[in-house]
Amino acid sequence: MNTASTKRMEKSKELYQKANQFTPGGVHTSIRNVEPHLIFSGAEGAYIYDADGNRYLDFQAAFGPFVLGHKHPYVTNKVKEALDRTDLYGVGTADLEIELAEKICKHVPSSESVLFCNSGSEATYHAIRLSRAVTGRKKLIKFQGCYHGWHDYVARNMLSTPDMIGKRDPGSAGMMDEAIDHTLICTFNDLEDVANTFKTNQGEIAALIVEPIPHNIGCVMPQDGFLQGLRDLCDQHGALLIFDEVITGFRHHIGGFQAVCGVTPDLTTMGKAMANGFPIAAIAGKSQYMDRFNTKPGGDVWFAGTYNGHAVGTAASIATLELMEQEPVHDHIFRLGEKMRDGLREIHQRLGIQAFVAGFGSVWTTYFLDKEPLHYTDLMDNNADVYIAYRRKLLDRGIFKMPMNLKRNHISYSHTDEDIEFTLEQSEIVLKELKEEGKLN
Ligand SMILES: Cc1ncc(COP(=O)(O)O)c(C=O)c1O
Repeated sequence: MNTASTKRMEKSKELYQKANQFTPGGVHTSIRNVEPHLIFSGAEGAYIYDADGNRYLDFQAAFGPFVLGHKHPYVTNKVKEALDRTDLYGVGTADLEIELAEKICKHVPSSESVLFCNSGSEATYHAIRLSRAVTGRKKLIKFQGCYHGWHDYVARNMLSTPDMIGKRDPGSAGMMDEAIDHTLICTFNDLEDVANTFKTNQGEIAALIVEPIPHNIGCVMPQDGFLQGLRDLCDQHGALLIFDEVITGFRHHIGGFQAVCGVTPDLTTMGKAMANGFPIAAIAGKSQYMDRFNTKPGGDVWFAGTYNGHAVGTAASIATLELMEQEPVHDHIFRLGEKMRDGLREIHQRLGIQAFVAGFGSVWTTYFLDKEPLHYTDLMDNNADVYIAYRRKLLDRGIFKMPMNLKRNHISYSHTDEDIEFTLEQSEIVLKELKEEGKLN
């Protein structure tokens, strides 16, 4: 494998320049714009390949979808079969849509009925609009650091700078003031803060949206009773509880994290691991609410999308869930996740490095912190320079974790014990280097 000193990047550099001629910044999602600017040209199983032929063990997993690994044959074969038959009808109901809807309702506790769309952002948008229609209220609670997509209702207080935590921090120019100001920001794992926010906005809050594990800031675990506390507060105040399971759904359990934690939300949004990399997302929930969508005659909440229920996404999702039903997907990824976390903790202890290895199931990250973080503010003590340098050095050694602060890593069904052992070996080398360079003590 090429190492830092031998890795070729000429082709990537050349193509990146060309990409910039035709696309602002050369990337099609802002968060993909990181150094080095690699151009990718292939993927298989646990690996991705750049234009210069360098191979990387992929833990970025495109921010989460690849729960089975790239180009998993069970999924791609089902997609090919579906495409031999059709692409999109765009009228009536496709047989694949019924099959997938039944599977989701069987597995996801909150899912009495489900609707398909194409991205997590669409799903959270629909969930929020539905909550407003159901309650006749306007305000929304979200948590500092959580991400629920790019639209105006939720694109605030994401990765805020320390001085903007909890303050008015819109994520984009051009957002509607009313949308920004009707989204209230609370502190994760702080029930008192949520209770006070409900009290001071009595009768005005339509919904509370939460990543049950905020993976958009790595892996901050909900403390005992927190998610149940949110359920109770929403019930007490007549607001809908939305679990945004776009990352946790299907990755942590075929029934979502709600099947693990035992708290059932009113509405659930899902995407990413749902179809192992193919584009499809869903909103699911109690029929009494879902029946308000105007897909049902008499419904008064608009729901539409030309590509909703496309054969590619539905077939890929059916295949992904089928494989989870038939094979020990979660046993495998959870075991490897534990092996990674244990291995890293052992290395840190041996080298005397102060770090907190966080994670759940197949997801992990190393925070350079001296304690478990409970919310976004705690993460401001993370040594971001070391975090980024560590990931950058691993990338030079063929391990792909996005070199950005507070990013999680994902293990897939295609990763092997050897992949974890290789990653641990390389991590130890890199951590020793960082120590020698005086960046870590
Ligand atoms: C928890 C969560 N919700 C919603 C979204 C938005 O999903 P999409 O990028 O598919 O629009 C994301 C994307 O990363 C996410 O992590």
